[in-house]
Amino acid sequence: MTAQVDRLARTATFPVRRPRRLRDLPSLRRMVRETALEISDFIYPAFVCHGRGLREEIPSMPGVYHLSIDTLVEEAAAAAEEGIPAMLLFGLPSHKDEVGSEAYDDEGIIQQAVRAVKAAVPSLIIITDLCLCEYTSHGHCGVVRNGKVDNDATLPLLARTALSQARAGADVIAPSDMMDGRVGVIRQALDEHGFAEIPIMAYSAKYASAFYGPFREAAESAPRFGDRRGYQMDPANAREALDEIALDIAEGADIVMVKPALAYLDVIRRARDAFTCPIAAYNVSGEYSMIKAAARNGWLDERSIALEVLTAIKRAGADLIISYFARDVARWLREG
Ligand code: PBG
Repeated sequence: MTAQVDRLARTATFPVRRPRRLRDLPSLRRMVRETALEISDFIYPAFVCHGRGLREEIPSMPGVYHLSIDTLVEEAAAAAEEGIPAMLLFGLPSHKDEVGSEAYDDEGIIQQAVRAVKAAVPSLIIITDLCLCEYTSHGHCGVVRNGKVDNDATLPLLARTALSQARAGADVIAPSDMMDGRVGVIRQALDEHGFAEIPIMAYSAKYASAFYGPFREAAESAPRFGDRRGYQMDPANAREALDEIALDIAEGADIVMVKPALAYLDVIRRARDAFTCPIAAYNVSGEYSMIKAAARNGWLDERSIALEVLTAIKRAGADLIISYFARDVARWLREG
C-alpha cells in the first residue's frame, strides 16, 4: 500500500501535482510546516564579570553584555519569565595566570554567579562552560608546556573545575576545551564526588573557527600566541566530527554539540543521522554579529534572517540551540 502510494506520488506530475496548493493559505502553510522553533529549544549564553551594577555592551555583539552578578540575576529572571529553559554561563575572572586558577576556585566568578542565579531563579537550568581560556594569561584552553597545550596535564584541572562548578550548583557541565579524554575524566570526577546525576554537554565537534572572533573580545580569551588549531577541529573535516562525537558519547557525554552551527549544518545533519542522543548546536558570536551588523546597515531584516537561520539549524537536526538571540526569539515567537 505504502509502496503503491509512493510510486504514485513519484510518478504523478503537473497538473495533478501542484505543490503550491499547500502554500497559499497561511494557516495551511503553518499546518504542514516541518520545523517549528520553540522557546524550549533554546539555551541563552551570558558573560559574567566581577563588580556590581554592571551592564556593559560588548561592542562587536550589540545586545550582549558583560553583566555583574546582580544584573546577571535580573537577566536570568527575565529569561526564565520568557520561557527560556537554560542559560550557559561564561566567566571573566579578576586575574589570569598560567594555569587558570580562578576557573577552579570555589569563590571564582562562575561559582559565585551560579550560586546567585540558582538561589534567585531555581527553575532555570544553569549550564557552565568549562574551559581554561578565559582564565589563563596565555589565552589557551589548557596548560602550556614548551609552547604547546599539554593535553594530559590539562585534564586534572578540567576535572577540578567541573567539581567546583558542580559544588556551586551547576545543573549541567559543558566542557569546551577540546582536550582528548576530558569527558571521561570529568565524568569520573563527578561520579566519585556524589555528582553522578549531573549531565555533561560536550562541545564535541568544535571547530577552529574564525566565527569566534567577537566572543574572544567578549570573554577576553584570544590566545596570546599561536592559534587553537592544535586542539580544535579543522573546518574541512566532517567524518572526524563523527569520531569526536562517538568518543565523547563513549566517555559519558549526555548531550553532544556541533559548533559553530551555520557553516556546519552538514555536520549537524550527519551527527543527527548517526547518533540518538540530543544534539546541541552553537549559533556562535560571529554568526550573531554578522546579522547584527548587516541589520544595522539596513542591509538585512534582523528578525527574518535570525529566524530563518535558527530554523535551518533545527531543520538540520539540532535539538537544542545555543544562541545570543534567545531572548529575541522569545519575543518574536510571542508576537507570532
Ligand atoms: C571557550 C569557548 C569559545 C566559545 C565558547 N567557548 C571560544 C573559543 O574556543 O575560542 C565561542 C562561542 C562564540 O563564539 O559564541 N573555549
